[in-house]
Amino acid sequence: MTRFGKVMLSALLFTALAACGEDPDGRPANGDEPENGLTAFEEEHGIGPFTEEVTLDDEVDQELAMEGQNVYELNCEACHMIDESFVGPALGGILDRRTPTFVMNMIMNPSEMANRHPEIQELLRDYPVIMPYQNISEEQARAIVEYLRIAQE
Ligand code: HEC
Repeated sequence: MTRFGKVMLSALLFTALAACGEDPDGRPANGDEPENGLTAFEEEHGIGPFTEEVTLDDEVDQELAMEGQNVYELNCEACHMIDESFVGPALGGILDRRTPTFVMNMIMNPSEMANRHPEIQELLRDYPVIMPYQNISEEQARAIVEYLRIAQE
């Protein structure tokens, strides 16, 4: 089972358990908030400025991807490689593991992700450096995602 699957499963179990009880004023606990205090959206898409899912067009926007590559080379390459883990995990195929919104929230809000998101806390065991905040704009974060769709070593 994938890590995401496990998280979803424990969220479901928690919901099922919570549904058995009632809170003091008689409303059944509805399980909207899993144990770690994250909403279901935050579990899947990360915590940060993006509170709605960012969707990608079918076709890669090459111009945007090139913009993203520039930002990536300046701000990410010191710690990330595409195919191998380095200071941080390899980012090739990241979009098979994480949603675009998750990646963008990680770029823009890395310390809160490290403090509160269970997936990033798990990564911290293998990569003990906390990814720094680098003042990347929403547009730049979106461009990096476009680049990561096609990035190859
Ligand atoms: C100083 C080193 C450093 C820099 C610079 C850095 N990162 Fe990271 N990044 C890390 C580390 C270490 C982790 C693992 C989680 C943690 O420790 O916070 C990580 C985690 C991530 C993750 C989550 C990976 C996963 O498997 O979920 C993404 C996505 C990411 N970084 C993207 C970027 C992007 C894009 C940039 C450039 C804007 C960047 N990082 C810049 C060190 C860095």
